Amino acid sequence: MSVIRSGVDTGSAEFAANREAMEAKLAELAAEHAKAIAGGGEKYVERHRKRGKLLARERIELLIDEDSPFLELSPLAAWGTDYHVGGSVVTGIGVVEGVECMIVANDPTVKGGASNPSSLKKGLRAAEIAAENRLPTINLVESGGADLPTQKEIFIPGGRTFRNLTTSSAARIPTIALVFGNSTAGGAYLPGMSDYVVMVKERAKVFLGGPPLVKMATGEESDDESLGGAEMHARTSGLADYLAHDEQDAIRIGRSIVKRLNWHKQGPSPKPDYAEPVLDAQDLLGIVPTDLKIPFDPREVIGRIVDGSDFDEFKPLYGTSLVTGWANLHGYPIGILANAQGVLFSEESQKATQFIQLANQTDTPLLFLHNTTGYMVGKEYEQGGIIKHGAMMINAVSNSKVPHLSVLMGASYGAGHYGMCGRAYGPRFLFAWPSAKSAVMGPAQLAGVLSIVARQAAAGRGQPYDEDADAAMRAMVEQQIEAESLPMFLSGMLYDDGIIDPRDTRTVLGLCLSAIHNGPIRGAEGFGVFRM
Ligand code: COA
Repeated sequence: MSVIRSGVDTGSAEFAANREAMEAKLAELAAEHAKAIAGGGEKYVERHRKRGKLLARERIELLIDEDSPFLELSPLAAWGTDYHVGGSVVTGIGVVEGVECMIVANDPTVKGGASNPSSLKKGLRAAEIAAENRLPTINLVESGGADLPTQKEIFIPGGRTFRNLTTSSAARIPTIALVFGNSTAGGAYLPGMSDYVVMVKERAKVFLGGPPLVKMATGEESDDESLGGAEMHARTSGLADYLAHDEQDAIRIGRSIVKRLNWHKQGPSPKPDYAEPVLDAQDLLGIVPTDLKIPFDPREVIGRIVDGSDFDEFKPLYGTSLVTGWANLHGYPIGILANAQGVLFSEESQKATQFIQLANQTDTPLLFLHNTTGYMVGKEYEQGGIIKHGAMMINAVSNSKVPHLSVLMGASYGAGHYGMCGRAYGPRFLFAWPSAKSAVMGPAQLAGVLSIVARQAAAGRGQPYDEDADAAMRAMVEQQIEAESLPMFLSGMLYDDGIIDPRDTRTVLGLCLSAIHNGPIRGAEGFGVFRM
C-alpha cells in the first residue's frame, strides 16, 4: 500500500480563505441549479399540476429504483443565453430495475417543453453518452417539438436525435419512449424510432400534423384523439405497444420493459470490497487556491478520491510537473494524470505519453485532473522540441481507446486542455469544479497579446499608437475573457457535463465508471505516428 499522506494545514488562514471562496462559488452554483429545478416558474408548474400531471423530475424519481442516485447531466445548459437555464429538458443516468439507463425528460413547464438550440445540444450530448457507454435510453416525452422561432438552428441538426435512436437500436442498445403528452411533428419520431412505446391514455398525442395543419393541408376535419390519441395508437395504428391508464402506470410499464431486457454489462466488475479514502473529502473545499497562479499538490486531491487513499505513483522523479500513477476508485482500476505545477514541459509530455500507452496495454481507464496553463513556450523549449513532445501526448490521448474521465479542478488553458483530454478529445465524462477556468490562454495574457499585435501593426503602418485606447481595450478584453472562462459559462455552452461540488468528485466518478462498464473496456492496439 502507498497511502498518500496529507501535507494540508486545515487550520491555516490560507486554507480558510480558499474554503470560503469555494463555498461562495457553491452557493452561486446552487442558485443557478435552483433555476433549472424551478422549470418554467410557478405559474406554469401550477398549471401543469392542475392538469393532474407530474413534473419531469417527479417522473424520473418514480422511474428509477428507490433510493438510487440520479447523475444529472448538463443541468446548467443554456446558462448565459436567452433560454431558460436547463434547456427545457432533464438528462441523466439513473438505475431502473438494476440497469443504468440514460433518461431524457422534457420539461413541459418551460415553453411547452419545446426544444431550443440548448435543449438540442443537451439531448445530443446525452445520446452520445448513451452510445459510448452502451446505456439503454428512456425518453419521457411531452414536448411542443421544435422551438419555432429558433427553428433554423435546430431543424436540420435536430434530425440527428431520431437517427441516434435507431442507430442505438442497431447497436442492440434498447430505446424506450414513455409518452405523457404532446409529441407532434418531428417529435412523433421519438416514439416512432424507439424500440418500445408506452402512451398515457387521453394524454399522449402523437401526430405528424395536428388538426389545424391537417385542415390546411388537405381540408380534412379531424380531432386530436382520432389523429394521434393513445387509444388510437394502441388499437389502430400500432405505434403504441402499451396503453397506460395514467402517468404512474406508464412508469410502471417502463420499469417492467427494462426488467425484461435481459441486460448484461460487458465490462469487468469492480472489486467487491474496497476501502473509502483515508483522507477527508471535506478538505477538498480548501485545497484549490483562490489565485490559480499558485500551484497546489494534486496528490491532496487524489488521496481524497481514491480507494484507501492508495496511489502508486509512476515515474515520480521525472517530469514532476505532472503526477501519474495507479489507483482504484469504487473498486475500478484507474490510471491518473494530474497537473502539479501548471506548466507542461517536454518531460511531462513524454511521461504522459508513456503512461497512456501503459494504461492501454492493461485496459485501464484514465482520469485526467486538470490544473494547467499549457505547454511551455520560449526559445529553449521550442528548440528542445516542445511541439513534438506535446504532439506525442495529444496523439496518445487522441488514439487511446480506454475510457477517459476529465475533471477541471483549476486552470485548463491552451493546448494543455487538449493534452489533458479536454472536451474535444472525447472523454466519456467531463466535469468542472466551481474553481475551474478554461480558455485559449489567461485573460491578461490574451489581452496583452492583442495589445502587442495592435502596437506592431500601428508601427508597421507608421502610425502613432493610442495608449489610452489600448488600456481601455485591454481592460474590456480581460473582462470578457475572464467571464467566458468561468465554469457556468462553459457549462451553459455544453462544454462540460456539469459543475460539481469537489466533495462529490469520488461519488460522481464512481457513478461514471459504473456506467462506463456497461460497455467493454479495451485499450488501443496502435497509435498514430509518434514524432521523435
Ligand atoms: N415553439 C415555441 N414556443 C412554444 C412552442 C413551440 N413549439 N410550443 C409551445 N410554446 C410556448 C407557447 O407559446 C407558450 O408561451 P407563453 O406562455 O410565453 O405564451 C408556452 O410555450 C406554453 O404553451 P401553451 O400552449 O400555453 O402550453 P400547453 O401546455 O397548453 O400546450 C402544446 C403545449 C405543446 C400542446 C402547445 O403549445 C402546442 O401545440 N405547441 C405547438 C406544437 C407544434 O405544433 N410544434 C411543431 C413542432 S415541429
